[in-house]
Amino acid sequence: MTIQWFPGHMAKARREVTEQLKMVDCVFELLDARIPYSSSNPMISDIIKDKPRVVLLNKMDMADPGETKKWLQHFEAEGVYPVMLDAKNGKNLNMVVKAAEAVTKEKFERLAAKGLRPRAIRAMIVGIPNVGKSTLINRLAKKSIAKTGNTPGVTKKQQWIKVGKTLELLDTPGILWPKFEDQVVGKKLSLTGAIKDSIIHLDEVAIYGLEFIQQYELETLNKHYNIQVEADSPYIDIFDAIGMSRGMKNKGNEIDYESVVELVVREIRNAKVGRYTFDRVKELESTDEAE
Ligand code: G4P
Repeated sequence: MTIQWFPGHMAKARREVTEQLKMVDCVFELLDARIPYSSSNPMISDIIKDKPRVVLLNKMDMADPGETKKWLQHFEAEGVYPVMLDAKNGKNLNMVVKAAEAVTKEKFERLAAKGLRPRAIRAMIVGIPNVGKSTLINRLAKKSIAKTGNTPGVTKKQQWIKVGKTLELLDTPGILWPKFEDQVVGKKLSLTGAIKDSIIHLDEVAIYGLEFIQQYELETLNKHYNIQVEADSPYIDIFDAIGMSRGMKNKGNEIDYESVVELVVREIRNAKVGRYTFDRVKELESTDEAE
């Protein structure tokens, strides 16, 4: 689903999430494990404020496991509780419940000390489009919850889904807008399918993806496409090699670049070339230091 984000929509989305937040004890912020920085909403801390938060690094099955580990450490160091997750295949779902218990422990102890009866923890999921919010809700609900209302502006009656004995989840996720801050973030969002019909040209997305794999996993790139490019080969040579190898030519017997671009973007999006994490913790930390 593609959402056109205009300032009015962002204000409305923010209002709706702020309203929903009043009903919950904690928030699950769903991110794409391949781009934990780029897939976060730019105002998330401002919106969530001091509500206990769990960061869920979803789609871990498509991310580089070593990099995911570094991201988990990074979030822990920042005082945020992180969980890596594969909502599609239902991996680590029990850790989501554990995380909710951990981040709300103090609040519930306080309530118990005041003599209040114990009750289930109430939580909601927030995140930008396509990070897997509906998939996770359905997994936790153990059934398919209709996607109606999963659009800013379309309201429906909200219900609580029981997840085991200790957790209740709002059946409607909070949908927030993605970052538009720079071209590189845009390319990463497109490369991971967070934005599908992007204002960024697909050829630039393919070039970014190919150059990334050329830099980090040249051998995998050569092997996957059955080509022989070098670490310093220009991208056009990579396009030519893939086109030749896959027999993608047009009627004039020239490389059909459009088809090559589509193939490359589709395969990287689906992690067919390999598992990559396009946001590196190191880069984020070095920008933090420079500020
Ligand atoms: P949203 O509500 O946040 O907008 O996202 P949604 O659940 O619709 O998920 C977006 C896409 O991401 C879906 O794929 C979904 O299957 C996939 N997805 C969600 N979680 C995971 C995960 O942990 N691992 C992987 N590999 N994929 C995940 P789709 O192609 O749009 O739909 P479908 O063909 O899978 O149904």
